[in-house]
Amino acid sequence: MAERDPLTESLTLLSERAGDVTGLVYTRLFAAHPELEDLFLMDTDGGVRGSMLSQALECLMNLADGPGTMAETVIRSERINHDTYDVPIGMFEVFFDIIRDVTRDTLGPAWTPDMDTAWKNTLAKTDSLSAFSLAT
Ligand code: HEM
Repeated sequence: MAERDPLTESLTLLSERAGDVTGLVYTRLFAAHPELEDLFLMDTDGGVRGSMLSQALECLMNLADGPGTMAETVIRSERINHDTYDVPIGMFEVFFDIIRDVTRDTLGPAWTPDMDTAWKNTLAKTDSLSAFSLAT
């Protein structure tokens, strides 16, 4: 069986060590960008935040582990949806970076150079996936 890619390995270790990281991720996001917290006022039970994070994690693993076809479709179309939620340009990058930072900080010495490289390569891919352009 093929070895797991280092990014997925790091996320597996993250969930083993920290369990549900929803709180950690959004605390960091709102500390860095307090203006974003109001966007989630309607999310009273945290369901949107949870499913948004799991979608982002699925995309990262999908890109790290192969051609990333699912991630490409999701990220390109979510960029369009998020424009209608008034999410400023550049915030997808901020969100993915925060997931990486939470993972790296939680792993501490278990964070390897291979993981670092895999995250760099994968985040470069998420950056390159712009919104679908609507051909006229
Ligand atoms: C800082 C960056 C981001 C912000 C501020 C943000 C903001 C939001 C907000 C406000 C909603 C709720 C919209 C509504 O129902 O009115 C939402 C939903 C969602 N977001 Fe994000 N988003 C960000 C990044 C991402 C990323 C990177 C992904 C995935 C690739 C993503 C995927 C989703 C999905 C799938 C939903 C729908 C969740 C559900 O209702 O079950 N978001 N986002």
